[in-house]
Amino acid sequence: MPQLLFFSRIDDPGQWRSTLARLAPDVTMRIWPDEVDDVAAIDCALVWKPPPGLLARLPNLRLIQSMGAGVDGLLADPELPAHVPMARVVDPLLTQCMTEYVVLHTLYHHRLMPLFARRQAEGTWQEIVAPPAQERTVGILGLGELGIAAARALAGLGFRVCGWSRSARSVAGITCRSTAAGLAEMLAETEILVCLLPLTAETEDILGANLFAQLPHGAALINCGRGRHLVEADLLAALDSGQLAGASLDVFREEPLPAGHPFWAQRDIVITPHVASISHPESAAQLVVENIRRVWDGLPPRYQVDPARGY
Ligand SMILES: NC(=O)c1ccc[n+]([C@@H]2O[C@H](COP(=O)([O-])OP(=O)(O)OC[C@H]3O[C@@H](n4cnc5c(N)ncnc54)[C@H](OP(=O)(O)O)[C@@H]3O)[C@@H](O)[C@H]2O)c1
Repeated sequence: MPQLLFFSRIDDPGQWRSTLARLAPDVTMRIWPDEVDDVAAIDCALVWKPPPGLLARLPNLRLIQSMGAGVDGLLADPELPAHVPMARVVDPLLTQCMTEYVVLHTLYHHRLMPLFARRQAEGTWQEIVAPPAQERTVGILGLGELGIAAARALAGLGFRVCGWSRSARSVAGITCRSTAAGLAEMLAETEILVCLLPLTAETEDILGANLFAQLPHGAALINCGRGRHLVEADLLAALDSGQLAGASLDVFREEPLPAGHPFWAQRDIVITPHVASISHPESAAQLVVENIRRVWDGLPPRYQVDPARGY
């Protein structure tokens, strides 16, 4: 009878409990801390941003299952039990929701909405026509589960789409690049840049002045990776100078974004509160159950994280 520790400050434990009870009645879900009276009885942990040191307190842990796609928070735990396999969520609904977010905000910038929002505030009628999608290049940083799905959807709308990844990739209809030289080539033609990278030592602060300067003047940024990808002061400077025309940000260095943060008052920035795509239990629980079963059968979990790689 596997015992599953559950910890999240934002996900609804009731939904997870009822879904897991239906899919795997033999798994007992215990919410940390109230329902855990014996840490030695816990076999697996389903967690989102657990307090550092929590997982190290579970001596018989066999699986760490992240509730989200990104695992930077888990890997930052200095006491993370390195011998326990860790898996992240890859789920069709999570991917679909991220694709919706990327398409929505790409179209917002493509159709010059930050400019029209300014004109509306001034009461100005000015006919400026956006180019067709076929004349617009969208660049996607990160061609993983989420990046590839977003790239395909944008290509389906007619955009020219480029993507950048760590290893060389091949995706039909998408210009795929890797390496630093490949990134420079992609940035030179990218008018709308989407960040769907994991946060690692290599990708932290990647969205900074040096990168912005390589984009065509008046480009737009969509960051739905992590807040620490972005150098916030550099974004404000790039918007002030016109090098960037607008930005959509879902993730921030500090969440919730503090009151008084300059982003709140920057009208060329669209702010969403880290909701681009979250895990829906009714869909994501299937992977969680599959991974518990796999670990019980002595197999590695699906979508296992490589701590050395950082994602
Ligand atoms: N805002 C939200 O609501 C939300 C929701 C879900 C996820 N996210 C973020 O989205 C990220 C991506 O998720 P995913 O499922 O698509 O991840 P994934 O499948 O692991 O894909 C990551 C992609 O980034 C590339 N990459 C990693 N490090 C790189 C580097 N140093 N240089 C160039 N490319 C690099 C990888 O290259 P390879 O192909 O060579 O491995 C891969 O293409 C998550 O880590 C999370 O931070 C945000």
